[in-house]
Amino acid sequence: MPKRFYLETVGCQMNVLDSELVTASLLAAGYEAADNHREADVILFNTCSVRQHAEDKIYSALGRLKHVKDRRPDKIIGVLGCMAQKDQTGIFKRAPHVDLVVGPGQIGQLPLLLSQVNTDRTPLLEISLGRKGKPRAQVEESFEQYDPIRMAEARQSAHQAMVRIMFGCDKFCTYCIVPSVRGPEQSRPANEIEAEVAQLADQGCLEVTLLGQTVNSYQYDENGSTVRLADLLERLNKIDGIRRIKFVTNYPRHMDDALLQAVRDLDKVSPYLHVPAQSGSNTMLKRMKRSYTVEEYREMLDRIWATVPDAAVTSDFIVGFCGETEDDFQQTVDLVRHGRFKNSFIFKYSPRTGTKADDLFDDDVPEDVKRRRNNELLAIQNAISQEENDPFIDRIVEILVEGPSKNARKQGDSGESVQLTGRTVCDRIVVFDGASDLTGQILSVRIDAANSFTLFGTLAPTTE
Ligand code: 5AD
Ligand code: SF4
Repeated sequence: MPKRFYLETVGCQMNVLDSELVTASLLAAGYEAADNHREADVILFNTCSVRQHAEDKIYSALGRLKHVKDRRPDKIIGVLGCMAQKDQTGIFKRAPHVDLVVGPGQIGQLPLLLSQVNTDRTPLLEISLGRKGKPRAQVEESFEQYDPIRMAEARQSAHQAMVRIMFGCDKFCTYCIVPSVRGPEQSRPANEIEAEVAQLADQGCLEVTLLGQTVNSYQYDENGSTVRLADLLERLNKIDGIRRIKFVTNYPRHMDDALLQAVRDLDKVSPYLHVPAQSGSNTMLKRMKRSYTVEEYREMLDRIWATVPDAAVTSDFIVGFCGETEDDFQQTVDLVRHGRFKNSFIFKYSPRTGTKADDLFDDDVPEDVKRRRNNELLAIQNAISQEENDPFIDRIVEILVEGPSKNARKQGDSGESVQLTGRTVCDRIVVFDGASDLTGQILSVRIDAANSFTLFGTLAPTTE
């Protein structure tokens, strides 16, 4: 009987991609996917460390598995990803029933590591080097790159895929754990990325989302000349079968004119730009070590609006960062009002052990103040999102159909009319009724109504 695995994923798109690659490598090694942990011989968690809440969720899920392991000691429990790299042997201390701890740099070896645990039956830790005190090349090498296996069956969507173009991050924003757990910034070779996107196109992918922690600092030296993100987009734009190209996450200081012109001029590149500001206060930005001022961020917005007037810009904000006063917060409110973002992700500051902010500053904004600022900013952003969505009413938009909506997933055989969801080029979610086998098509929908998160529409005669 083939062994069965169950993989649970939390965190960002990078983790979702890592989970796809883990799934593909396990399927290729002869494992089968199980629907839940009860049916699985191997239970894996792909984890996130960016905020405390994400870690708490994993530790309590691990806690619930203690009695399972007591009854079925042959089951293998593995912790993968950022929390593995951050907490290392601490995971075995807190959850002694865990068999395997694997950092993001080692997940390519997972089939091998699993057979090692199976044979040895002793806990196994495979992680990368810390970033301090070792030569950079050695640290880079320990965050091993590997040729990913792209397998349509391992993806959530047959028509959309993420493609990593960079590993790691060198920005060291003072609040952020990512540079420690994902390692040094390393751009992948442009021709490798091209080959991967061509392979995805052959598998029927229409949309690719390029991933990097600071995706617009992509830089690869190829035969003596430098390939930047704008150049890479131009090359990927030529690949037959690919209809849409998105890229996340952008760092404000690297949003150069060449890139904005590429977004404007390349027909497949979506006018969608996620460029986190984090705060509207220069005092906070400096303390966060973001390396730009709010004036520079606003100037960047002006350049975006001048070059790509229809761009949907989105942002991230942290409220309640160390020392944030009411006045600092009001400056963030001002930036949200000015930026008119399509949407913003708003987070309460969560201190992370091992970061500069945790070493140097007090987490001195009380939880109830963080919560109030979070709610207030969210309400302002939601009102703006609504105002930005309303003009779509009565317009016809082109959407890529992603599949039945959450509500509709249980009903409907192929061909039957169900509630479907799709996305516009500017990343807006559109809900409409249609046959479930429309999934993966690019169709026209007339928008009838909108709230701050979603557009609602009716299928229009197709333009194709
Ligand atoms: N606390 C709260 N939010 C954080 N982020 C990163 N680190 C922290 C932290 N310690 C947010 C930033 C980033 C997003 C992915 O998560 O806004 O852009
Ligand atoms: Fe974290 Fe800053 Fe790097 Fe983004 S740019 S991953 S916030 S250190």
